[in-house]
Amino acid sequence: MAFFRTVGSNDNLPSIVGDRVMLRPPQSGDHAEWAALRELSRSFLTPWEPIWPEDDLTRGAFRRRLKRYAEEQRNDLAYPFLVFRRQDNALVGGLTLANIRRGVAQAGSIGYWIGAPFARHGYMSAAVRALVPYCFGPLRLHRVEAACLPDNGPSIGLLEKVGFKREGYARGYLCINGAWEDHLLYAQLADDQH
Ligand SMILES: CC(C)(COP(=O)(O)OP(=O)(O)OC[C@H]1O[C@@H](n2cnc3c(N)ncnc32)[C@H](O)[C@@H]1OP(=O)(O)O)[C@@H](O)C(=O)NCCC(=O)NCCS
Repeated sequence: MAFFRTVGSNDNLPSIVGDRVMLRPPQSGDHAEWAALRELSRSFLTPWEPIWPEDDLTRGAFRRRLKRYAEEQRNDLAYPFLVFRRQDNALVGGLTLANIRRGVAQAGSIGYWIGAPFARHGYMSAAVRALVPYCFGPLRLHRVEAACLPDNGPSIGLLEKVGFKREGYARGYLCINGAWEDHLLYAQLADDQH
C-alpha cells in the first residue's frame, strides 16, 4: 500500500495505490469519463443510491460537486476518491469516506459504487482494502463504518470479504432511491487490524 501526494489542483490530497487499483480525488478533467460511466451504469446503481438530481451528470453539476468536495476536505468532513484500474487508468468507480466525526468518536463512513462493466472483478474490494489503512493511519480514525440495504447481497459480500463486522440494524436509516430504508450497519475498528 502506498500513499502519495498528487500534483496539480489537488496539491494536498493523497493518491492511494492498492492491488490493481489507484484512488485519487476527482478533478474537473474527470467529468466526461465519470458522466459516461454513471450514465452507462444508471439502472445498475440507482436502486442503491440517493435519487440522482435531473442535472446530476452535467458539467455544471460536476463543478458544483467538486466545490462541495473541496470544502468538505478542507473541513476534514469527507474525502472522496475515484477508483482507477492501474493497468490502463480506466475509471472503474468511486469510494468516499464521509461523515467524519472527530472528538471522542474518531469515526467516518464509507460509500462506494462500481461501474456496471467493471462489477465483480474485485476492484471495489481492492479499493476498500487500500482506503482502510489510510483511514486508520494518516487520518487517525478509530472506526470506519458502512451501511447497506439488507437485500444488497453484493454490498454485504464486499463488506464481509474485506473484514467489516456486522454490528446492527438501523430502521429508516438512509433515504435511498426516494424512500427511507432500513440498513444493516457494519464497521471496522483500528484495533481489528492487529
Ligand atoms: C457493491 C459493489 C460496490 C461491489 O463492487 P465490486 O467491485 O463488484 O465488488 P468485488 O468484485 O470486489 O466483490 C467483492 C465481494 O462482493 C460480493 N459480490 C460482488 N458482486 C456480487 C454479486 N453480483 N452477487 C453476489 N455477490 C457479489 C462477493 O462476495 C464478492 O467477493 P467474491 O467475488 O470473492 O465472491 C457493486 O456491486 C455496486 O456498485 N453495486 C451497486 C451500488 C451499490 O450497491 N452501492 C453500495 C450501496 S451500500
